[in-house]
Amino acid sequence: MRQKEQLGLGHAVLVTKELVGHEPFAVILSDDVVVGERPCIGQLIHAYLETHSSVVAVTEVPHEETCRYGIIDGHLADGGMDPRLYKLSGLVEKPDPADAPSDLAIIGRYILTPKIFDKLEQTPRGAGGEIQLTDAIEALMQEQDVYGYAFEGKRYDAGTTMGWLKASVELAMQRQDIGEEFRRYLQGLDLS
Ligand code: G1P
Repeated sequence: MRQKEQLGLGHAVLVTKELVGHEPFAVILSDDVVVGERPCIGQLIHAYLETHSSVVAVTEVPHEETCRYGIIDGHLADGGMDPRLYKLSGLVEKPDPADAPSDLAIIGRYILTPKIFDKLEQTPRGAGGEIQLTDAIEALMQEQDVYGYAFEGKRYDAGTTMGWLKASVELAMQRQDIGEEFRRYLQGLDLS
């Protein structure tokens, strides 16, 4: 499946409508690299099985960076549920820090119910002139519960040069096959 026009993340998901059909599905944005003991998407699937609702991955970001992310409004889910689950009451794409409802940002992992496709079809262009997945999830929330999941793991923003470099260096050092050799290479560099 290929998105032939660059109309935004929401549009990219919409072009998969026929392929996905009537089942819940995962969205993974590969410029968000998440490393941990349990795969981030596996944690979301687990949360989906608990809630039978759409779930987005969230993490806390510095307040001044809210304008780079979808930001959630919500509260921790009621007792008895996974303590990392937030019940959402709102979502806003790339708000100015002054308008941000929290510092909890959406990271590029989602489990969505197929109802999202109806919402995407009705979503006008939003932030940056693009059809935003965040706006469609906000519309979905009017009909179905949506949760955020504060996943376990370290996240790298490989969509920035610095984040991509940090992910490459740190993950290379951890590799069984070349980790040792790579460390020796780094130690041999003139860092003055
Ligand atoms: C997209 C989403 C945004 C989310 C971000 C995570 O933005 O629209 O809600 O917080 O991914 O990386 P993009 O990075 O494509 O501008």
